[in-house]
Amino acid sequence: MSLITVFGSINVDLVAGVDAIARPGETVLATGYVTLCGGKGANQAVAAARVSPQGRVAMVGRIGRDGFGRLCVDNLAANGVIVDRVATGTEPTGCAFITVSADGENAITVASGANGYLTADAIPAAELSSTTTLVLQMEVPLQASLSAARAVRKAGGRVIWNLAPVPERLSTDDLRSLLAVTSVLVVNEHEARVAALRLGWSGESFEEAAALLATTGGVTCIVTAGPLGARAFHRDGTRLAVSAERIIPIDTTGAGDTFVGILAAGLDEGRGWNEVLARACRGASLACLAHGAQRGMPTAEALS
Ligand code: RIB
Repeated sequence: MSLITVFGSINVDLVAGVDAIARPGETVLATGYVTLCGGKGANQAVAAARVSPQGRVAMVGRIGRDGFGRLCVDNLAANGVIVDRVATGTEPTGCAFITVSADGENAITVASGANGYLTADAIPAAELSSTTTLVLQMEVPLQASLSAARAVRKAGGRVIWNLAPVPERLSTDDLRSLLAVTSVLVVNEHEARVAALRLGWSGESFEEAAALLATTGGVTCIVTAGPLGARAFHRDGTRLAVSAERIIPIDTTGAGDTFVGILAAGLDEGRGWNEVLARACRGASLACLAHGAQRGMPTAEALS
């Protein structure tokens, strides 16, 4: 049986609603705040699990011995994610401080806590096979993610790497190492440009940047473009564009994570690229219609 393994961050999100996001040096009063479960890794695991049969998505991450950690693990389990690979450390559980403006934009500061101590040995090597899909992001140590990816590729599995948030100081060597173990790279327009710059590119269009990442890395590069949908750039030079539904967003937090989780589930199920991208775009749009990263994530029924 195939397994989607998400190796990544687990956070509690402290989310404050504001009329407008504070600028540097400014203090604004929030209309209120809520404590929600988040973290790019955990969000992607929940998004994949909501559209997958029970028992097909596992989370590999690290939490602290605190109430936030328990809240996050209980939430993952309640969403059908396998949680026995979540390690516990003495560090605090990761926490994201999020402000969401009246027009649905957000600003996020992440205190990584336990996420910063995740190691690749948290993945049971014996369960890796050609039917493993590993999903990675950039909120846990890069070397641990690279080790996990190498193990999965060695076993013949698929590696989906979401380059978010892209470190402004990502080195060329690290990017090349990452591309060497990746099957599908998922970026937004900004991340595509930052990554391509590391390969010596000096253009402006994200299409050129993504095409370069695909051919140089030998990967399929998916670019998410919010309301404009998504584009796929394959390593053989072929391209595919899928448009998104028009919506009025309430909160865009977690939309990219929803896209990645549903993309992973679609590839794991053997769907074609067109269908995979269309479902991921639809899921990401639906996720923007509720507050918080995970509340609006759809079930399989909502996607069909
Ligand atoms: O992508 C959204 C996520 O980024 C939030 O849930 C927050 O925890 C940060 O990791």
